[in-house]
Order: sequence, then structure tokens, then C-alpha cells
Amino acid sequence: MKVAIMGYGTIGSGVAKVLDTNKDIIKERIGESLDIKYILDLRDFPGDPHEECFVKDYMEIANDKEVQIVVETMGGVEPAFTFVKAMLEAGKSVTTSNKALVADKGAELMQIADANNTNFVFEAAVGGGIPIIRTITACLTGDVIEEIDAICNGTTNYMLTNMEQFGSDYDEILAEAQALGYAEKDPTADVEGHDSCRKIAILTSLIAGKNVDFNDIPTEGISKISSTDFKYAKAMGKSIKLIARSVKSGDTYSCRVAPYLVTPEQMLYHVSGVMNAVAVKGNMLGESMYYGAGAGALPTASAVVGDMVFLARNVERPVKIGWSDEKLELANPAEQSFKYFVRTSALQSDIENEFGKVEYAGLDLDNEVGFVTEEMTEAEFNERQAALGGIISVIRFF
Ligand code: HSE
Repeated sequence: MKVAIMGYGTIGSGVAKVLDTNKDIIKERIGESLDIKYILDLRDFPGDPHEECFVKDYMEIANDKEVQIVVETMGGVEPAFTFVKAMLEAGKSVTTSNKALVADKGAELMQIADANNTNFVFEAAVGGGIPIIRTITACLTGDVIEEIDAICNGTTNYMLTNMEQFGSDYDEILAEAQALGYAEKDPTADVEGHDSCRKIAILTSLIAGKNVDFNDIPTEGISKISSTDFKYAKAMGKSIKLIARSVKSGDTYSCRVAPYLVTPEQMLYHVSGVMNAVAVKGNMLGESMYYGAGAGALPTASAVVGDMVFLARNVERPVKIGWSDEKLELANPAEQSFKYFVRTSALQSDIENEFGKVEYAGLDLDNEVGFVTEEMTEAEFNERQAALGGIISVIRFF
């Protein structure tokens, strides 16, 4: 079976490596081999083992009837969308690792695939090497999913772990994550939580069966987390993790991406380094958690190749996963309730006046105090923190 790869960066070249390394076992499992016929990239790769496969015009791939499976590992929405659409319309099956594309155009591309009697799949778009998409769209389809809590960005988890364990400098550790091939092309997507936001939007669309607009999800990243926040967290026996949450609320879901304070009794506390974990709670299943490498060339490429095998087994057999393009109206985020850890320069008497009973965080620093509120809604907290003033930082309890 002839295949093509669009985008020969970290993940695309990883896909070629997985196909080369595991050629024989893949052939055994499908009954025929997956042979790379084209690689689309604007750059040249002299000396590459697949040097003869490189093309610069995507229509060369779309027009070749021999190619049945196409991998998209370019990243970004355009031109990836135009290229993927052309491949599906030409009747080819497509797998992508591109969460920006799936979050923005997933429902539409699935409809195009369906209309052309083919499949569009995206296992690698969430959780890197963790098979969470197929788990949700196949294994857990007997359940109503009540909650998903995910550490789903390897770059930021790697950075937070290093900041906590070694007091690493933010910029230095970001550069290290980029060098290891974890980060997005523009690391703002990682550190500001946009990547996690797109991933929880995809997972929520899959469990709700309706389309979540990622712009509706309140999203905070880790760029404001400091070594002092970690000192407070340690004093309270907690850690700080960037968590993407989706909780069932009536007929819809309540979503948020933010750094949270977690305790050792909570499973996500123990997820360190580039590892990702997705905790899923089903109404029949109860709690489950899926753990593994969330970024990096080979874990992500492994998920892409798993998709290629799925596509090879389902040529001209569209597999429906129930993600309609009807918009899901998310629950009002202002009604979510949390306990909040607050650092402020305000006086203790003003804190107690505004927030009533609070617990102090037990760290003696000049010119500031850290305290924990009782549980209250976002709306109520925002009013009270504005009235108090002098706010240095706020982190929600998980
Ligand atoms: N930049 C992403 C991460 C890559 O760090 O998790 C995998 O989606």
C-alpha cells in the first residue's frame, strides 16, 4: 500500500523512522507493507534514506491514484486544511497529528471524509503516544463520560517539573524542551495553554458528540508561574500542574485550562516530565487514567503509524465516531467553583474583611502574604479579589 507524508519535521521524519524500523511487523499485521511513495516538504533533504520521494506540490500526491493513505504532520491550520481536504476529496484516507487543525476543522474534515467514503483520524493529536482518542471513540462508547482531567502538554509539564525539582530558570528550561522536540513551532501555544485548550476541546467534542469551539474555553498558561509560587506550593504539600478539565454539567460540559494546585493523593500530582496523563470518569466505568509520553518525535509518530494501520484495515469503510458539526454551548465558566490560593500585598485585616475565614499558606515572605479561600464561584471570587487589591498571583485548587 502506497503512503505519503506531508511535512518532514520532527513528527513526519519520526513517522518515516517508525515505518522503516518496524516494516516487517507492520506488514505482518496488515497483510501488506506500507511503502512511502511521497514526502511533501518545501525543504530539501540531501542524503535522506527517502531522498527520491520528496515533492513540493501537494497535488502530485492528490492526483496519484496509487496513494491510499496520507499523513499530515505539517502543523497549523493552513495550508494543512487545504491539503488534507484535497486528499480526502481524492478518496485517500488521512491521519494527522495536528491538534490545531483538528480542533478548528475536525468536524468538517470528518464530514468530507464520510462524503468521500474514506476516513479522517487523529490519534496523535491528543496525548502524543497515549491512545486516548481510540479509547474514547471505541472502548468507552458504552459510557456517559462525566469528567476528563488531563495533563496534555508535555512541554509545560516538563518545564513545571524542572522548575519544581531544580528551581530551573523559565527561559532556559523552555529552550531545553524545544531542543528535545517537545515544543510547538511557536512555544506560546504551549506555555499559554493554547495547545492544551485545543486538546480538551477535541476530547470534549468526542465525549459530547457536538462541536466545541476552543475559543469558548477559558485558558491560562504557565508563563506567570514563578519559583515563589512553587515555594508556597511546597509549604502546602502540593505541586502545580497545568490541567485541562471538562466536567459534565447538565446537558453540556464545563471546561477550563489553568495551572492548578494538586495534592499527592490526586493521581495527576505524580505525572512528571514530558509525560501526559488523561483521567477519564465514566458513569459505568468509574475512574480510569491513561499515561504515557505526550510529546516527542517517536511516541507521536508511533500513534500516527497506529492510525495508518487502522486506515489500511478500513479502506473504503468509513468508521463513524459521532462528532457532529452542531455547536456545543459550554456551561458558564463564571459558575465554576474552586478554592483559591492567593498571594497579595494587602493587609491581613483587609483579607479577612473581604474573604472571611481563610487559611494562611505558612511561608514568611516580605511584603506579601499567601492564603487559601473557602470554595466559591469564579464570579464571587473575582468580585472579592478586585475589592481586596494588591493581588500578586492566584492559583486554583484542583
Ligand atoms: N507541544 C506539544 C506538547 C506537542 O508539548 O505536548 C504534543 O502535542
